[in-house]
Amino acid sequence: MNTLHRIDGRLHLEDVALDTLAQRFGTPLYVYSRQALEAAYESYTEAFAAIPHLICYAVKANSSLAILNLFARLGAGFDIVSGGELARVLAAGGDPGKVVFSGVGKTADEMRAALQAGILCFNVESVSELHRLDRVAGELGTVAPVSFRVNPDVDPKTHPYISTGLKENKFGVPIADAPALYRLAASLPNLKVTGVDCHIGSQLTDLSPLADAADRVFALVDGLAAEGIALHHIDLGGGVGIRYRDETPPDLAAYGRMLATRFAGRREKLLLEPGRSLVGNAGLLLTRVEYLKPGEDRNFAIVDAAMNDLMRPALYDAYHDIVAVVQRQAPARRYDIVGPICETGDFLGFARDLVVEEGDILALLSAGAYGMSMASNYNSRPRAAEVLIDKNAIHLIRERETQQAMIAGERLVY
Ligand code: LLP
Repeated sequence: MNTLHRIDGRLHLEDVALDTLAQRFGTPLYVYSRQALEAAYESYTEAFAAIPHLICYAVKANSSLAILNLFARLGAGFDIVSGGELARVLAAGGDPGKVVFSGVGKTADEMRAALQAGILCFNVESVSELHRLDRVAGELGTVAPVSFRVNPDVDPKTHPYISTGLKENKFGVPIADAPALYRLAASLPNLKVTGVDCHIGSQLTDLSPLADAADRVFALVDGLAAEGIALHHIDLGGGVGIRYRDETPPDLAAYGRMLATRFAGRREKLLLEPGRSLVGNAGLLLTRVEYLKPGEDRNFAIVDAAMNDLMRPALYDAYHDIVAVVQRQAPARRYDIVGPICETGDFLGFARDLVVEEGDILALLSAGAYGMSMASNYNSRPRAAEVLIDKNAIHLIRERETQQAMIAGERLVY
């Protein structure tokens, strides 16, 4: 489905012309399509229909309450990595019974909050964490549901910063150590072993590392079953990659078929923790061209969005398509699109051929995932507003942060 399209040269998301949004709400502005979010979720439920499963949306990809609420109403569970994300899921009406808690550094307070909320499972990533969880659950007089996040040591063939399943990464426990750890967990009084978890990396464009990881996890599960440790679910981590430029992400249906053959005849439920592929291509970032600065070597288009709004280009050298919201008829010029922040790394795109004038609105595409959720106040820039489009309805889902709100928690010292 193409929710992003042009009518008479004006870029629309669903039925709304994006230049009107920039005028009404100002820029930088994140804009999301409800249809695209729902279609992405449905593509998961369809692809994995043959397997009893739960889609636990990875909150880190975009943690805005309206988006969490939308997925909750579609029946999603959630993958969280902090107490803050738990609070967001609860505030958005998410079912705590469908929440899995990942992350290498869970604090005792975060564990308590999650136990009190009654989450589905803790994805435990070390022996020390296991002992802490047993102690915290004991203090609360409850039993903590536990999965180990195992590190299968497969190369996901993605950017090194977002690869997590190699043995040199900080994540998970080595899969070879897992049987002993499950025995230990089964012996601790305040823990209940429920599953296994594995996440090898993000923006995966190839299914074969996922298949290798799944095979290693299934072998572990079968070995545990033979010892009398039966698991209820197998969590295979994040989702597939998306197209930013010319990538060919794996077909979800093919991923579904690959897992369906492996799950045939098994009793465990499948859990997945997709983030990027549910929200990435459902959102974009609007920005206004403040200045054009032609030069001998290169031309700069200085825009009002910056690395604090969308950090991916600066952090990963990530590519986002950049297009003019209202097309002009003139020869294109080549620009580096940069923000106003005082860092050379503050770029959004290099060598883009555009027809633009000062004051024009540009759209940075595929910005729905790890855009707003990674935004900061660097250079004391308030964070952007967010709008959700639903056909011709326009919902402001997050107000632009005010300068006052930005400094509200700070105190002078006399
Ligand atoms: N589960 C766990 C345990 C994760 O660490 C992640 C992502 C996911 C699920 C979701 O993966 P996805 O379906 O989105 O690929 N900021 C980076 C991406 C960092 C991903 C971190 N973990 C970026 O902008 O590319």
